[in-house]
Amino acid sequence: MSKLRSVKGMNDLLPSEIGRWHRLERAFREAVERYGFAEVRTPIVEPTALFVRSIGEATDIVEKEMYTFEDKADKSLTLRPEGTASCVRAYLEHSIGNVEPVSKWYYLGPMYRRERPAKGRYRQFYQAGCEVYGDPGPYVDAELIDLVVSYLSALGITELEVQINSLGSGDTRERYRDSLLAYLRPLASKLSEDSQRRLERNPLRVLDSKAPEDQAIAAEAPSLLDHLSEDDRAHFADLCAALDAFGTPYRVEPKLVRGLDYYTRTLFEVKGLGADLGAQNTLCGGGRYDGMIRELGGADTPAIGFAMGLERLLLCLPDAEAEDTLDVFVIVQKPELRLEAAKIARTLRAEGLAVDADLRGTSMKSQLRRADRSRARFAAVIGEAELAAGKVQLKDLRAGTQEDVERSSLVARLAR
Ligand code: HAM
Repeated sequence: MSKLRSVKGMNDLLPSEIGRWHRLERAFREAVERYGFAEVRTPIVEPTALFVRSIGEATDIVEKEMYTFEDKADKSLTLRPEGTASCVRAYLEHSIGNVEPVSKWYYLGPMYRRERPAKGRYRQFYQAGCEVYGDPGPYVDAELIDLVVSYLSALGITELEVQINSLGSGDTRERYRDSLLAYLRPLASKLSEDSQRRLERNPLRVLDSKAPEDQAIAAEAPSLLDHLSEDDRAHFADLCAALDAFGTPYRVEPKLVRGLDYYTRTLFEVKGLGADLGAQNTLCGGGRYDGMIRELGGADTPAIGFAMGLERLLLCLPDAEAEDTLDVFVIVQKPELRLEAAKIARTLRAEGLAVDADLRGTSMKSQLRRADRSRARFAAVIGEAELAAGKVQLKDLRAGTQEDVERSSLVARLAR
C-alpha cells in the first residue's frame, strides 16, 4: 500500500515547532488589541461567487489557484484563498454598518491557494490580518502601516522595506489602464507569455511581473501617480505626511499594483530584506478597497486592511531563548509510587502549575531524561522515604541544585 502523506504544499505544524507559532500569534493579538481591533472568525469555506466577484476574474487567484468543489446540493464552494472577502461578507450579512460607524476586525487562520510550492509559498498557509470599515483615511492607513512595522520590529524582524503607492479612486484606475495599454500594445510581442495572455484583461499585472523581459518594459511605463485626481493626490500626500510624523520609514513605489482587483487608493507591501526568505519576500500586503462593500450589495463604505503570511515571518524570526514549557516533572523512584505521583501532579495542576509525570513505571534515568527533554524547570522526585516523611526531593533542572521540600509547602516553594 502506498504511504499516506499530507497534500502537497500543506504542512503539519508539530508540537516541537509550535512555540514559535504561538509567539507570533500571541504578539499579533496583543499588538492589534492595543489598536482597538477585535477578532472575527469566519468559515474556511465560502460560496465561490464571493471570491470571483471581489478578488476579480482576471487574477491569478481566481483564474488558477482556488480549491473549488461542488457540494452535494450542487453549490460551488471554495476554500478561502484570503480573508478580506469573507470579512466583508460577514460585515454585510450581520448589518454591522448599521450599528457601528467604524469597525476594526482582525483574524488569524489558514488560507488555501493552489500555487507551485516553494520556500515561503505553500498551498495551505496562515495569515494574520486586519480590516477597518467606515474610515476613509488617510490617517488610519498610516496607522495600519505603522502597526505592521512595530509588530515586526517587536519580534526582532527589522530588515524591512515598506513600499506604498496609490491606485486612485473612481475612474483613475480605468484611465491609467488605458494609457498603460496604449504604451504596452506596441511592445506586446516582447512581453513574457503570461503577460501577453492577460495583457488586454489585466495590463496592470505586467508592472509587478517577475519576468525580466516584463520588468525592462515596466521600468519605462507611465506612472500611476501621474494619473491621480486632485483628491487622490491629497489623500496620498497626507498618508506620506502621517508616516513621516510617526517616523515610519517607507518608499513610494509607483509600480506597486498587487494581485487582487479590489484595491483603490492606498496600496502597501512590507518586504523582508533578510537572506533567509528567498524569492517570497513579501511579508505583508494590504490596501484600501473602498468599492467592495457597495459592489457586494452594501452601502458605500470605505475599507482598508492588510494580511501577513505567518510562514514567511517565521523564516525571518530570530531564535528566542528556549522557554520552559513545564513547571514541574514528577518522578518516582519505584513503579509502586506512580499513583502517588499522579496525585501530586493533580494537586499542583489545580494550583495552576504546568505539570507532567512519567506514569509508565520506567527507570529513574529514563524519567529524568524525559523531564529534561520536556524542558521542565523542576523535577519533583518521590521515594518511599520522602513519602513517609511527607516530603519530596525538588531538583532545579536549570541551576542543577536540589533540596528536600515539605509536601505541604511545595506550591509556595515553586511559586517562589
Ligand atoms: P496577499 O498579498 O494575497 O493579500 O497575501 C498577503 C500575504 O499572505 C502575502 O504578503 C504573503 O505574506 C502571504 N501569502 C500569500 N500567499 C501565500 C502562499 N501561497 N504561501 C505563503 N504565504 C502566502 C491578501 O491576501 C489580502 N487579503 C490582504 C488584504 C487585507 N488587503 C486588504 N485587506
